[in-house]
Amino acid sequence: MCGIVGYVGRQTAAPILLEGLRRLEYRGYDSAGVAVLSGSEMQLRKKKGKIDEGLAKSLQAQPLAGQLGIGHTRWATHGPPSDENSHPHLDQSGRMAVVHNGVIENFDRIKERLMEAGHTFRSATDTEVLAHLIGDHYEKLKGDQSEASVRLTQAVLSALREVIGTYGIAVVCTDAPGIIVGARRGSPLIVGLGQNENFLASDVNAVVAHTQQVVYLNDYDVVTMTADRFDVASLGADTAKVQISQVEFSPEAAERGKFPHFMLKEIFEQPATVRNALRGRIDSDEATAKFGGLNMSMAELREVDQIVLTACGTSWHAALVGEYLLEDFAHIPVEVEYASEFRYRHAPLEKHTLVVAITQSGETADTLAGLREAKRRGHKALAICNVVGSTIAREADGGIYLHAGPEIGVASTKAFTSQVTVLTLFALLMGRLRMLPVRRGMEIIRALEAGPGQLESILQQNERIKRIAQKYARAQNFFFLGRQHGFPVALEGALKLKEISYIHAEGYPAAEMKHGPIALIDPNTPSVVLIPSDSMYEKTLSNLEVVRARNGPVIAIATEGNATIAKQADDVIYVPPTLEPIFPLLAVVPLQLLAYHVAIERGCDVDKPRNLAKSVTVE
Ligand code: G6P
Repeated sequence: MCGIVGYVGRQTAAPILLEGLRRLEYRGYDSAGVAVLSGSEMQLRKKKGKIDEGLAKSLQAQPLAGQLGIGHTRWATHGPPSDENSHPHLDQSGRMAVVHNGVIENFDRIKERLMEAGHTFRSATDTEVLAHLIGDHYEKLKGDQSEASVRLTQAVLSALREVIGTYGIAVVCTDAPGIIVGARRGSPLIVGLGQNENFLASDVNAVVAHTQQVVYLNDYDVVTMTADRFDVASLGADTAKVQISQVEFSPEAAERGKFPHFMLKEIFEQPATVRNALRGRIDSDEATAKFGGLNMSMAELREVDQIVLTACGTSWHAALVGEYLLEDFAHIPVEVEYASEFRYRHAPLEKHTLVVAITQSGETADTLAGLREAKRRGHKALAICNVVGSTIAREADGGIYLHAGPEIGVASTKAFTSQVTVLTLFALLMGRLRMLPVRRGMEIIRALEAGPGQLESILQQNERIKRIAQKYARAQNFFFLGRQHGFPVALEGALKLKEISYIHAEGYPAAEMKHGPIALIDPNTPSVVLIPSDSMYEKTLSNLEVVRARNGPVIAIATEGNATIAKQADDVIYVPPTLEPIFPLLAVVPLQLLAYHVAIERGCDVDKPRNLAKSVTVE
């Protein structure tokens, strides 16, 4: 949801900014732009469209000199994608440039006031208003005898005090050509520390090729940085707390490598990422799981009498898998809440309700708000999160990291299987604290340990899945049907297809289908039916037959060894046998590959699907 970068140092800034923006492009790709200072000259370049279609070409044709600059890749909120609405935006004087990730909620009122004072605006964005507001404060400080750099920081501080909303910003001004001022509230921002150079970015991916040392800024922090130093002030009541952290992944982890797309790379990483999620967390002696960062005693966990899992998008589907697991293993009542609803709903919670926020990025605005709401109401709030140092990871009382490495493909894949793995372990722990027998605990552990190898064997079917995808790629509607543990997987399979191929797809409980949606079945509407050889097999089979009886094509996701299903379905993709509750971990992978190949067949840009952003930091 918009990515911002800043560079100040001894190297030419524009290529570094461009490279940083490419690494942040998953956050938005409606337009991109840079502002680079050359001496005291403001050079602005901004273009509608993806980076390589617009900005990169423009910079190649006419390179920019200068060793300090800021850049932005946009996911439009206020005003459609256009050159004018692209960032950076200038203030009234044209000497100050601002990039922004977030939403300024009171921009209309500020704009009116500034227009009355003679300001003119070129774009429809809230960011341009913020640029003018900072410029206005800066002008008012002109009488002050302090240096321009001090005044610039002061202007940012005082302007932000007027602002309601969320922001991660970077500001440069021709009067102070050696500094960048950054600030955050609700949108992520990190400082990358180099030798005689410093970086600012929405996330570490943008800087990891240059430095492994970063500072994760906190809400209300305002940073002023030069090539040689950085200072952090706080807009809040507290003084800023600054901690230097080491990035835990290598620059190569954020590269596409031999794969044509990040999404495919990340699908193929899953045997390794699931192994990482399991590593060190299995206690075979006690047939349970152990975690280092829950920050809750066993007695506290034992007291939990309700769990709320809150999340958005794919993480919400993982939460739904978690609901089945926790209720099955631990018999604890679980509510799965869309974070955007939970934050405003006055859901009655029990005294010992535990709230768990599930999020790949750790920055999703709604999930963050849900977590804060739970804490405000005095509940323990944990996070299951991938990005180390992210806002949600830091604000939670404790949690579990996925250790899946950077996920760059906008459609989430490896984060889902890691979330499911971690939720299975957590459910195992909660179950063993209650009545789950040792024998069952050991069965679950063995099934989980077999998971990575089984995922490898599923990935070997890639070519077959591709052929099936090609066969159905022209369909305009799809159904994904599953029961019990398979139902959330059906929802996730449908979401994957929608996100990257733009085919209308619905995930449904297989048996609920007959209460309405079955009216949509016809020979051009394929149904993907999740039909493992489990306790629900016969019932799911009759749901499948109902679809076939209406001439609906069926792609079955079935258990290896089930030869008869080939007669009842048009196509079959087999997954290895496993326990019923572990089925989601395996079954989602063929659906990811199916969506990927359908999208490729339709000529879609799978890593940058239209209208989406990976990290949604606005409400
Ligand atoms: C966006 C992404 C989804 C993701 C969701 C939640 O909508 O496009 O892929 O599942 O946000 O993101 P989170 O980082 O909180 O898991």
